[in-house]
Amino acid sequence: AVAAGAGWGATFLTVYGDRRRSNVGELSFRNALRIPELLDPAPSADGRRHYRLTLAPGTSELLPGRRTPTWGANGPYLAPTLRARRGDRVAMTVRNRLPEATTLHWHGMLLPASMDGGPHQMIPTGADWQPSWTVHQSAATLWYHPHPHGSTGSHVYRGVAGMIILDDEHSDRAALPRAYGVDDVPLVIQDKNFHADGTLDLTETKLAETVAGADNLGVLGDTILVNGTYDPYFRVTTRRVRLRLLNGSNARVYWLGFTDDRVFHQVATDAGLLQRPRALHRLLLAPGERAEIVVEFAPGDETVLRGFEPSLHLGFPTERFMGGDDTFDIIALRAAPRLEPSPALPARLDGAPAPVAAPAGARRRHFEFTGLQINGRTMDMGRVDEVVPAGTTEIWEVERGDDWVHVFHVHGAVFHVLDIGGKQPPPYARGPKDTFYLHEFGTARLAVRFDTLTDPRAPYMYHCHVLRHEDEGMMGQFTVVPPGAEDRAPRTVPYGM
Ligand code: C2O
Ligand code: CU
Repeated sequence: AVAAGAGWGATFLTVYGDRRRSNVGELSFRNALRIPELLDPAPSADGRRHYRLTLAPGTSELLPGRRTPTWGANGPYLAPTLRARRGDRVAMTVRNRLPEATTLHWHGMLLPASMDGGPHQMIPTGADWQPSWTVHQSAATLWYHPHPHGSTGSHVYRGVAGMIILDDEHSDRAALPRAYGVDDVPLVIQDKNFHADGTLDLTETKLAETVAGADNLGVLGDTILVNGTYDPYFRVTTRRVRLRLLNGSNARVYWLGFTDDRVFHQVATDAGLLQRPRALHRLLLAPGERAEIVVEFAPGDETVLRGFEPSLHLGFPTERFMGGDDTFDIIALRAAPRLEPSPALPARLDGAPAPVAAPAGARRRHFEFTGLQINGRTMDMGRVDEVVPAGTTEIWEVERGDDWVHVFHVHGAVFHVLDIGGKQPPPYARGPKDTFYLHEFGTARLAVRFDTLTDPRAPYMYHCHVLRHEDEGMMGQFTVVPPGAEDRAPRTVPYGM
């Protein structure tokens, strides 16, 4: 059964008017996909695994024959893949050699807020930052990127972003492809615009030019890069390939599938493995979201991963889908004439995290995303918006109050989508998550688990992951305090001291 097919068909209203873009037919898939290097941690005397990342500007050949000034970590563009496992004690040295102060945020990592790399952990130009923590969460595909308040969009767009792969004893045993870069392949999908001279074009796409009454999403690019590779292909050498998909775009939403409409199996959402692989032929990936899929090949097969115009979706009456009603070919997958065998896809993934369940009477909080504000407020670095008791599961109701694209992300927590407007969430969103596209057809109820206490001076963030919206203040702060201490908890953060 293909879950995305049954009962979920309906027609989108596109809101782009005549700004509908496509690169279909323009690519020849001639460049081998770059695979970000796996960063080997150095063991240190105290038993920690020590990763060193240097953020610096450089020059990249992103488009053939053109030089593009870019930013990256340990290289001119993007960043190495970090790999760690549950139980590891990790220590990072992040050296900021960029011309601007920045931060480095471990998106999806469950760790103390002071190590989180949010807007309170600024790294001045020339300085180093040395967070450390113990990995205590399930296997998952996470990522890392800058998070300085007001400049996240430009820092990510210039190229600072990398993937994090977490393993655990269950993922070790799961019969899933696991050879990095061979049959377990990171795909960091990003859209860019370039000036004629090859420099990155940071001009924001004003939706007002295309949609009456709508506003700014930030940069929407017409050139798709995968791991920084333009016009890419990947040579498949095994029967099954696991793709770790990351939407690292500033604003673009992708409705992903293959040009031959083949069925694939989703095996993980943002925060970990699914209990059972799920057959799909499309999945939605909003900025910041990850999905792991397993795709099966016959010898000599070729197919293209495409971001489709979302004309089929969700079974709700209409869905406006700004930022995703374009059609973009992303990468060709070409199978060799002879393929190595792969393990059969397991029916169950043992040890995958159980759904977050909210107890009866769980505390509810409501968040309405409208314009550039959440609940009518703009981010204030000195204000604590919510105080959450540790060790609880709450129901967070997140709602889109306008026609814009908004993507909810919460730090330091994992959630499951309970329902949207009273209906079951779409199949690809059923699993452990930390980022979620807000649909227009109703309030999404999320069961959110909060386990990590915060230092009251270092709150966690929740925000819109459309980076322009985040930079404009569509963000709030929360602390996690011992149960019973909520009323006494400070509602301000010492900031700017
Ligand atoms: Cu990926 Cu608060 O961010
Ligand atoms: Cu938004």
